[in-house]
Amino acid sequence: MEASLLLSLRPEVSLNEQSAGQVTLEAPFVSLPNTSATFKQLSPALRSVIDRLLAGDASESDLSAQVLTADGIAGLGKLNAILQHLAARAMLCHTLCADGDPLVTITPLTIYYRFNPDLLKPDTRYVLSRFAHCRREQDRMILESPLSYARVELHGSHALSLLSALVQPQTCHELTVSLGDAADDLANQLMNLLLNAQALSAVEEDGSAAEDHDPALAQWEFHDLLFHSRSRLGRHNNPFGKAYPFEDQIKPLPAIKPDMSEDVIPLYKPDLDAIKQTDPPFSQVLENRRSIRSYADQPITDRQLGEFLYRAARVEMSYEDDKGGVTFRPYPGGGALHALEIYPVIGRCENIPSGLYHYNPQAHHLCRVSEQNWYVDTLLEMAWHMIAQQSRPQILFVIAARFQRIQWKYASIAYSVILKDLGGLYQTMYLVAEAMGLAPCALGGGHSDLFAQAANLNYYAETSVGGFVLGSRGEQKPWILGEL
Ligand SMILES: Cc1cc2nc3c(=O)[nH]c(=O)nc-3n(C[C@H](O)[C@H](O)[C@H](O)COP(=O)(O)O)c2cc1C
Repeated sequence: MEASLLLSLRPEVSLNEQSAGQVTLEAPFVSLPNTSATFKQLSPALRSVIDRLLAGDASESDLSAQVLTADGIAGLGKLNAILQHLAARAMLCHTLCADGDPLVTITPLTIYYRFNPDLLKPDTRYVLSRFAHCRREQDRMILESPLSYARVELHGSHALSLLSALVQPQTCHELTVSLGDAADDLANQLMNLLLNAQALSAVEEDGSAAEDHDPALAQWEFHDLLFHSRSRLGRHNNPFGKAYPFEDQIKPLPAIKPDMSEDVIPLYKPDLDAIKQTDPPFSQVLENRRSIRSYADQPITDRQLGEFLYRAARVEMSYEDDKGGVTFRPYPGGGALHALEIYPVIGRCENIPSGLYHYNPQAHHLCRVSEQNWYVDTLLEMAWHMIAQQSRPQILFVIAARFQRIQWKYASIAYSVILKDLGGLYQTMYLVAEAMGLAPCALGGGHSDLFAQAANLNYYAETSVGGFVLGSRGEQKPWILGEL
């Protein structure tokens, strides 16, 4: 098989022809101002290079031959300058062809990307990076990695079979042999291109991937690094932030979730003016705040639960608009969208039967979702394990998110906003609990499928993203940090 490497402009690049011989190319980027490149006094041969790059039908040597014939050696210097200019602005893609058929295309995602034709070392063995992954995008198969400033399109099943061979460490020569029909040069160029996309890791003599020898990288799990890199700017070119991606297709969710049942328990509303007179000073609350995982024998009361939820999580103000509206509450929320929903799972609380409830933060009441049952017991049991079995939780607040509240507005960052909102709610709950003399503790884990079943929710529409346990404060058991 014969290998060839074609050059093309990124599909998003637009051409603006100012005059014969002068063109400006522009490429949009989400993370930086758009890049542009203006070329003046182009000879007809160099002007046709731009067209061939737009068509993506020529290799660098094709272009060089064309310019050399028309403009001589001086033209070659200008061609090199144009290609370098385009590469520095992340506008150039490379397509590797086998016998003229496209195999893979590498496309820059940010201006940090530079294509290096000589990354591959002939005697080194390489293996697919544990961060590389394939997925469908429209009708294309894409290979991506959170390590990379570029991504690769796989044009057919042959590309996939070459890729799957790299699940085992291979030198370029071994890959050629194992595939039988692939020419050395094809395997060489393919592996070099995959290296440019950070989709391969070199393999050490002991057989381990070199990427795992970096103590920083070794500790990243695949999903965490993907989530981090995709929800921050830097190494993708996707819509980012306020984008309203579903504005014309799907109705936004209302700011307040409708009550889940008519079985409602009104909650006590504290007198905030009186509280302002009697509360401990702010710095005392902040300095004394601790996670407490053991409780008094006498359980928390319904009045304390009402005061706690009112002070930490009620709706203070709300505004309607055609985008679902916003609310303001004691804890901050990205875009004032407040997607978090609080579900008290009550084990022991004076005057409120054990069961699963939903908190309506506008009406300030509880709505019964279920009586005490296997789900309620299991959620409480799991929370008990999460606090190192210090005391049986009196109340577990399962904190769920109505994901589409945030996804309807924000692109790329929706889930990260939800987790940041959760942090704001946790801290507010901690401070209110401290001011009230209760025993609070945030939870890092939780079973989102179990909770969705318990509350009869669609996992993709709303389920748990956090948890928080609360109880009456008693004598604290000695705490061994290693137990966490
Ligand atoms: C996001 C988050 C998750 C936590 N998860 C747990 C948990 O699952 N179990 C637990 O006992 N404590 C948990 N904690 C409490 C921490 O262990 C605690 O904040 C830490 O030990 C510091 O102690 P302090 O809160 O008393 O200052 C969590 C805290 C946070 C902020």
